[in-house]
Amino acid sequence: MSEPNDADELAALTTSLKRHLQRRQRAGIGFLAKGDPVETKPVSVVKENLLGGTVDDMFADTAASMAANSLDELRAAIGDCQRCKLCSGRTHIVFGVGNPRARLMFVGEGPGQDEDLQGEPFVGRAGQLLTDIITKGIGIKREDVYICNVVKCRPPENRNPEPDEVAACEPFLKKQIDLVRPEIIVGLGKFAVQTLLKSNVAISKLRGNWHSYHGIKLMPTFHPAYLLRSPADKKLVWEDIKKVIKELQGENT
Ligand code: URA
Repeated sequence: MSEPNDADELAALTTSLKRHLQRRQRAGIGFLAKGDPVETKPVSVVKENLLGGTVDDMFADTAASMAANSLDELRAAIGDCQRCKLCSGRTHIVFGVGNPRARLMFVGEGPGQDEDLQGEPFVGRAGQLLTDIITKGIGIKREDVYICNVVKCRPPENRNPEPDEVAACEPFLKKQIDLVRPEIIVGLGKFAVQTLLKSNVAISKLRGNWHSYHGIKLMPTFHPAYLLRSPADKKLVWEDIKKVIKELQGENT
């Protein structure tokens, strides 16, 4: 779990490389022709945004995020991210919030409008419901858990994130999980759960059962936004959350 998955990292690098080459093209800098001298230089870590950066910078930038030793370092390495097309419509990168040593982590899909404007996950109507689940249901403070999303920038019109966007952002989610090392992850909704589990099974089938995410217990449940539309299913989420509470209390063995 501590090592980033090679395929994911390669996908993120490929997306970054494509965008870098497109930016060079837009800036009137052609692709390297065969035979062009290629200057080699030591890889340097770049903290500013990648616009105008070099390929070396780009690789160092991704490596820096994977080498981060804290959530603050990871956030700094993500910088003013331009790694996927969601950057063009966002107001804020919504990195994540909460206790960096939380026992319990919630993972959603991606920021909505409120989250994009405020830069914090789950602060809109669905977020209020999630906060109620945490504070009134589980009986702990919102600040005691860690909350983040699969993608850190708002997809336009709240559409589902696309595969290239997930590929660009997922390494950061993995690194967040690796840094927080929660005992339990609650996956919120079909998109987050299917992304984490690499599964196409319906959330209605996955929810309520324990799964493993690289050795961490994962409880899939319905997304709070779905519950706003289908309040009758709140009781199912409560069943799932009761299992999480038992596990946190060490009663599930
Ligand atoms: N929905 C999500 O999946 N994440 C948020 O942060 C807000 C709404």
